[in-house]
Amino acid sequence: MTILVTGGRGHVARSVVDGLLATGARVRVASRSPERVVVPAGVETVRADLADPRTLPAEEALRHSRLAWTFLRPGAFATNTLQWAPAIRASGTVRAPYPQAHAASVHEDDIADVAVLALTRDGHQGLTHPLTGPASVTQQEQIDCLAAATGRKIRLAEIGTEEYRATLRQWGDEEMVDTLLTHLAEADNRPAAVCSTYRDLTGGPGRSYAQWALDHAADFR
Ligand SMILES: NC(=O)c1ccc[n+]([C@@H]2O[C@H](COP(=O)([O-])OP(=O)(O)OC[C@H]3O[C@@H](n4cnc5c(N)ncnc54)[C@H](OP(=O)(O)O)[C@@H]3O)[C@@H](O)[C@H]2O)c1
Repeated sequence: MTILVTGGRGHVARSVVDGLLATGARVRVASRSPERVVVPAGVETVRADLADPRTLPAEEALRHSRLAWTFLRPGAFATNTLQWAPAIRASGTVRAPYPQAHAASVHEDDIADVAVLALTRDGHQGLTHPLTGPASVTQQEQIDCLAAATGRKIRLAEIGTEEYRATLRQWGDEEMVDTLLTHLAEADNRPAAVCSTYRDLTGGPGRSYAQWALDHAADFR
């Protein structure tokens, strides 16, 4: 069997490809821009754009096909905090509201580990796996982890939501900005739910945000 990994240039996809190749699986990598995908020698790349049905059928088609499927439902990604990298590199100060907003941020390699299990082992077909990181951490704690990982002094300067709205507009449309601001307000001083999927399936504890910060320290220097 050849396993098709879509979104080939993405954080999760790259980790899934590495994990699958380590198991000896045959892998084909799909991307909107296959010529820009970096893959090990011998791995085939193809073009697939989910917004272009001519290149790939939509998710409903997959559900109703005879193909076996497993859905992963990860919550907030640790990679979301890469949005702070330019500010940290430039000034060491992140301007954001709700320093005590919580998230159980999940490491992309944890998502990839579960994806590789689901793709290469029996017992996952037709199941949906929710995924979170191993602990709920506040934005301030994430900043502290990044400071420890980079050896730099990093400050979280609290700003109002209207000022932050302007920053968020760089990353998405108005609907996404509203969703993110509502989510942050709801998460303020409220620990995020942590699920046990990663430990249940792998036996390991899952990678902490502190570990993620160490793995990505170079992005913030
Ligand atoms: N951020 C969160 O908290 C969160 C939570 C739950 C789920 N998710 C979702 O998890 C997925 C993977 O995350 P990630 O960190 O790996 O994201 P990422 O690094 O931003 O990569 C996402 C990849 O999706 C592919 N893509 C985008 N539009 C596409 C299209 N129209 N057709 C086909 N492929 C397309 C792109 O691959 P190519 O450029 O190679 O085509 C892109 O590299 C994303 O879809 C994200 O929305 C995120």
